[in-house]
Amino acid sequence: MDRYAVIGNPIAHSKSPRIHAAFAAAEQQALHYEALLAPLDGFVVTVDTFRQQGGRGLNVTVPFKLEAFDYARQHGTLTARAELAGAVNTLRFDGAQVLGDNTDGVGLVHDLQHNLACPLSGKRVLLLGAGGAARGALLPLWQAQPAALWIANRTADKAVHLARLLNQPAVEGCGYPDLDGQHFDVVINASSSSLGAETLPLPAGLFAPDALAYDMMYADTPTAFLLQARSLGASRVADGLGMLLEQAAEAFLLWRGVRPDTAPVRSLLRPTPL
Ligand code: ATR
Repeated sequence: MDRYAVIGNPIAHSKSPRIHAAFAAAEQQALHYEALLAPLDGFVVTVDTFRQQGGRGLNVTVPFKLEAFDYARQHGTLTARAELAGAVNTLRFDGAQVLGDNTDGVGLVHDLQHNLACPLSGKRVLLLGAGGAARGALLPLWQAQPAALWIANRTADKAVHLARLLNQPAVEGCGYPDLDGQHFDVVINASSSSLGAETLPLPAGLFAPDALAYDMMYADTPTAFLLQARSLGASRVADGLGMLLEQAAEAFLLWRGVRPDTAPVRSLLRPTPL
């Protein structure tokens, strides 16, 4: 049976084995998917062993996405979106061939446009944060053709640097004070502020009428960012559970050639909406 796994450290908390087992059952695909704990200094050796044992693909999570990028660059090829993200969250192995991809950003865009019925074309989109999560989302967001794509970060220089990667006049990098007087239709939190339950220095009036606030993080209750967004007048809020499911569906597509429907798995993981 073809073997797949999610690799990380820690890994016990990962929902990926449950998600992929549900996808495989729904698509009648005979595969085995497990959680693989790699030592912090043992990513490469764990991946090599997995491949020697016939492993066909890996989802990669914290803290190994940069090492997975290097692994794919050394042993195979990278997709354009992985190249721009500078990180890999999905590896595919075909014999000696290795493909490194990043499905996080396309998963986010799919969740926004299909599940949340929020087309990005012509919209003003704001990305908060300029770390790995923001970088991973950048190219797929831009490819959805927003009228403007702004990146705001506590350390403004990092946002300016990210914006330069796209090199487009409609893409702007800035600090939080520069958001004064600006309005956005979609505001995405890619910073890790919600992890520490911290709010961000967002100005009043940031959310345009009917705006959607999206937190890449997810939890059993609304995140600090989503609570803040509601208090600032965001019409709709959503957390990153949908992104998690959609990036998994994209990985499944890369490995198996079919894209599973995520809705049944969402109801398994979250029977009642937030
Ligand atoms: P990840 O891989 O999750 O993106 P990261 O690369 O460490 O993690 O990036 C964390 C991001 O969250 C950064 O943009 C960071 O801002 P700085 O670049 O200024 O450090 C942002 N961040 C973390 N905590 C924050 C907070 N309390 N307020 C604002 N931004 C925060």
